Parts: sequence; structure tokens; C-alpha cells
Amino acid sequence: MKVAIYPGSFDPITNGHVDIIKRASELFDKVIVAVIRNPEKKARFSLDERVEMLQQSFRTVKLVEVDSFDGLLVDYAKKKKANIIVRGLRAVSDFDYEFQMALTNRKMAPKIETLFFMTDYKYSYLSSSFVKQIARLGGDISELVPSAVANKLSSK
Ligand code: COA
Repeated sequence: MKVAIYPGSFDPITNGHVDIIKRASELFDKVIVAVIRNPEKKARFSLDERVEMLQQSFRTVKLVEVDSFDGLLVDYAKKKKANIIVRGLRAVSDFDYEFQMALTNRKMAPKIETLFFMTDYKYSYLSSSFVKQIARLGGDISELVPSAVANKLSSK
């Protein structure tokens, strides 16, 4: 069984992430969307809120499981018997960081492969920070995030 992990802070999930998850779920037997418990950046949404928005967005997709983790990603991947880490690349500017992370993870766990999905051009500009900023300033985010996220942001 080919199990892939798509890790991230998902603060909150955007349609760019949804696109990557859907495309990955067509290639693997299971995709575990793994929300990091304590992201490096201070999170706007609590862990429970980030997980809940993901669960609501993928309620009907059987091959997608939502979970959370802390500690090293490669240790979590081993625990879940996953040997693929999925990441998305939006622009050249993502490359340095992703390259460094993939090589570091490979050094620690050579049997775990990182696979990159090129983002759909429609989402290449999108980030969770911009979505939060637009929502805070009263802009329309309905085409940028799943409805569960849009509802949550407008209720905040
Ligand atoms: N569409 C839209 N936005 C995207 C995207 C896509 N396809 N891909 C990434 N992004 C955005 C995110 O929204 C986020 O935006 P923000 O900065 O405005 O919040 C940004 O790109 C990066 O977020 P994310 O993909 O969640 O990465 P991250 O840097 O927050 O998290 C982990 C990276 C969790 C994978 C990494 O920190 C990790 O593995 N930590 C565990 C500890 C560990 O093992 N360390 C050793 C690793 S070398």
C-alpha cells in the first residue's frame, strides 16, 4: 500500500492545498494530511480548528485522512508506515527551502522520498498569510479557500 504524507501548518488550508491533496489522492492508496502541532510561525488558528477545517473540506474523500503530529516529520512518517512526503512548489522562491528540507529529511531517513507537485497556475500566488490578511481587511476570500475556512474566518 502506497501511503503519502502531506505535512504543513495549514493555518488555514487554502484551495492551493486542496488542489495538491486531490491530485496526490489519485496517485496513492492513502494520503495523510498531517498538521504540525506547533508551527515555527505563530498560528492564527488552534490545532483543533486547523484539523477541523481540513476534516470538513475532505469529509467525502475516503482516501484522505487528517491527522496531526509533532517532533520530526520523518519519525511520524515511519510511525504511519508512509514512505512518501508530498510537498507543493508554487514558484522558484519555494525551491531553496523545499530542497533543503527534502535533503535533510533524506539524510535522516533515506528510504523516505519527497515528491513535489507543481501548483496549478491558478494558485501559484496563494498563501495562508495573504488569505488571513484579505479576510481581516474585509476582502472576498470565497474563491481562495474551501467554504469551511471562509465561514470560520468570517465568524472570527
Ligand atoms: N498552495 C497554497 N499555499 C501553499 C501551497 C500551495 N500549494 N504550498 C505551500 N503553501 C503556503 C502555505 O499556505 C504557507 O503559507 P504562509 O507562510 O503564508 O503560512 C507556506 O506556503 C508554507 O507552509 P507549509 O507548506 O505549511 O510549510 P511550513 O513551512 O509551515 O511547514 C513542515 C513545514 C511542517 C513540513 C516542516 O516545518 C516540518 O516538517 N516540521 C517538522 C520538524 C522536522 O521534521 N524538521 C526537520 C525538517 S528538515
